[in-house]
Amino acid sequence: ASDERDDAFHAIIDADGRIEPRDDMPDAYRRSLVRQMAQHAHSEIIGMQPEGNWISRAPSLRRKAILLAKVQDEAGHGLYLYAAAETLGVSRDELLERLHSGKQKYSSIFNYPTLTWADIGAIGWLVDGAAITNQVPLTRCSYGPYARAMVRICKEESFHQRQGFEALLALTRGTAAQRAMAQDALDRWWYPSLAMFGPPDTPSQERTATHTEQSMRWGIKRFTNDELRQKFVDMTAPQADVLGLRIPDDELRWNDERGHYDFSDPDFDELFRVISGDGPCNEQRMAHRVSAHADGAWVREAASAYAAKHATAQQE
Ligand code: ACO
Repeated sequence: ASDERDDAFHAIIDADGRIEPRDDMPDAYRRSLVRQMAQHAHSEIIGMQPEGNWISRAPSLRRKAILLAKVQDEAGHGLYLYAAAETLGVSRDELLERLHSGKQKYSSIFNYPTLTWADIGAIGWLVDGAAITNQVPLTRCSYGPYARAMVRICKEESFHQRQGFEALLALTRGTAAQRAMAQDALDRWWYPSLAMFGPPDTPSQERTATHTEQSMRWGIKRFTNDELRQKFVDMTAPQADVLGLRIPDDELRWNDERGHYDFSDPDFDELFRVISGDGPCNEQRMAHRVSAHADGAWVREAASAYAAKHATAQQE
């Protein structure tokens, strides 16, 4: 019977159809999705912190309103993704517990500090730009609830990306000090943004993308990490020219033969150090997350009590 169930699953995958929560699926597929979706959800909510840092210091009311809306969008993305992960039979409480105890990860990028206002522009332009590059293909992921959540998330991310670019454009059209601030932000965020795509495909280095092959067979990933990194560089290099900023890579140049930009890889040892807890802000991010969760306990209790009361009232 288990073979028949697997056959039904593979028939859907082979036809490029969608797996829905009630369909049979191999345990390994379910586990891998929970791993990726939870990590993605955690990234969204931890990602609120570096930008939240600038809400009270945004340079104008308009910039403050935009940033506030963007950070709220990220909370929303976290919620869609936790809800989508719950369709796989794991509760949000459990996922948060795994984040807080360090059993699950969140994106390396959110362990870097936001030192100046230009960092907010750079995050929108580069980090959200990288996020879109990685997430647009996920709208075609084989797991229906994840794919559908991605549609709305990607629309919001593209607004985020444009607002970041526009904030940097304002700086690059400003004073020499503002232009220098924008360049400094690009210098610090460029390689961490390239590292967001994960380890390299080929084991040219010690570490490599362990999940890609299986995830591509299952239709979860549609492109490899290196393919997406290249797409991102190809999209971003001309935008840096528009901004009049210099991407901090001496190897970066258009390669006519390949039809792509050549570029230098990020330091993957640094990526793995940051993933394993040793980045500039890991401790601070986790401490803040755990205390925010504890501070919100009364809200969860009140909401549950209200829901329970409402349910009894409806039964009567
Ligand atoms: N930060 C933290 N961990 C990472 C990163 C990163 N940038 N890149 C790779 N890893 C981890 C993987 O989770 C995996 O670890 P695990 O086996 O303990 O789970 C390991 O490194 C090997 O990497 P891969 O084999 O490439 O793993 P995977 O196939 O899951 O690909 C990727 C990683 C591309 C991040 C994938 O999970 C993905 O597309 N996730 C959805 C997008 C996402 O999470 N974005 C978050 C940042 S964007 C934002 O929130 C705005």
